[in-house]
Amino acid sequence: MELAPEGIDHVYLVSGGSEAIEAALKMARQYFVEIGQPRRRHLIARRQSYHGNTLGALAVGGNEWRRRQFQPILPETHHVSPCYAYRFMEDGEAPEAYAARLAQELEDKIIELGTDQVIAFVAEPVVGATLGAVPAVADYFRRIRAVCDRYGVLLILDEVMCGMGRTGTIFACEQEGISPDIITVAKGLGGGYQAVGATLLSGRIFNAFRDGSGFFQHGHTYVGHPIAAAAAGKVVEIMTRPGMMDNVNAMGARLHDGLVAALGQHPNVGDIRGRGLFRGIELVADRGTKEPLDPARKTHAQIKRAAMERGLICYPMGGTIDGRRGDHVLLAPPYIISADEVDMIVERLTDSIRAVLG
Ligand SMILES: Cc1ncc(COP(=O)(O)O)c(C=O)c1O
Repeated sequence: MELAPEGIDHVYLVSGGSEAIEAALKMARQYFVEIGQPRRRHLIARRQSYHGNTLGALAVGGNEWRRRQFQPILPETHHVSPCYAYRFMEDGEAPEAYAARLAQELEDKIIELGTDQVIAFVAEPVVGATLGAVPAVADYFRRIRAVCDRYGVLLILDEVMCGMGRTGTIFACEQEGISPDIITVAKGLGGGYQAVGATLLSGRIFNAFRDGSGFFQHGHTYVGHPIAAAAAGKVVEIMTRPGMMDNVNAMGARLHDGLVAALGQHPNVGDIRGRGLFRGIELVADRGTKEPLDPARKTHAQIKRAAMERGLICYPMGGTIDGRRGDHVLLAPPYIISADEVDMIVERLTDSIRAVLG
C-alpha cells in the first residue's frame, strides 16, 4: 500500500477488472449507507468509457455499442462527456478552459440529479479500449476532484488498463497530482498470467465500514485468493525494481517518436497519443476535417488482420467517436521491451496501416 496515492491504504482483492469495478460501486454505495446518507443513489461516468462486462460495470461504461442490447437490464447510470481533446476541445479553446468546461458539466449533472443524491463519479485516467490511450488535458482531474469534494461525491478511478505501471508510473493518477477515493486495478497486476484484480480504498471509507456495520456486504468464492495474492505480490515486486518504470518511460517515448516519424504525416493518421507504453493512433479519412473513415469498411478489423499476418498483436477498435464512427489502434507492449523491439513494432504497424490504407 505504500505505493498507492495518498490516502489510499486498504485493498480488497478480487479476480479481475469487472469484479474490481463491481466491488467499487457497491463499496461506494454502502459507504454512504454507513455514514447515514442513504439517499445517495446515482452513479455518473463518462461516455466512451469501458469499465467491464458485468452488469454494473457495463452500466457505468459509456460505450453505446457494448451497452445496446443489454440496456433494458442495466442499472440506471448517468454519463457526461469524456475528456477527449483531439475531437472535442474547440478551436481556439485552451486546455484549461476545456477542463473547466468539462468540470462544469459534471457539476451541472450533480446539481440536476440532486446534490445529496450522487454516490460517485467513475473515470479512467487514460481511456483505453474505447478511445485508444487518451489522457485527460492538464488540470482536468484536479478540477474534477474539486467538484467531487464540493458535493461529497466519491471519485472512483478505473486503472484496470492504464494502471500498474502501464503509463510509466505505478498508478496513472500519480501524473494528475490527485488522489481518488477508490482505485480499481487488474490486468497488469497479474502480469497477464494470473486472474486477479483489486479495489483499493481510502482509510476514510475503510473506517466508515469499521465504525459502522463492520462488514462489506459483498464477496465471491475467490476474493482474496492466496495464489492470486502471491502472484500479484511478486508482480508488484518486479514492477518496482530499479529501472523498470524508467524503461517504460524511455521505451514509451521511443515508441511515440517512432510512430510520429513513420506515420505522423500519413494522410489517414489523425492523432498519435498516450503515455508510457500505452499508445494509441486515431485513424481518419481526412486529417484536416477529422472526418472518420466509413464505419462499413471496418478498417480497424483489417488492420488487426494485417498486423497479425506480420506477427504483431495490437488492439485495433472501431466506434472511437461515439460507439459507431471512428477507428483507432491501441498499443500496450511489455514493460521489458527493448529498443529494437519497439522499432519492430513501429515498422510492422506502419506496414500494416499502409497495406490497408495505402
Ligand atoms: C478500464 C477497464 N476497466 C475494466 C475492465 C474489465 O476488466 P476485466 O476484463 O478483467 O473484467 C477493462 C478490461 O478491458 C478495462 O479496460
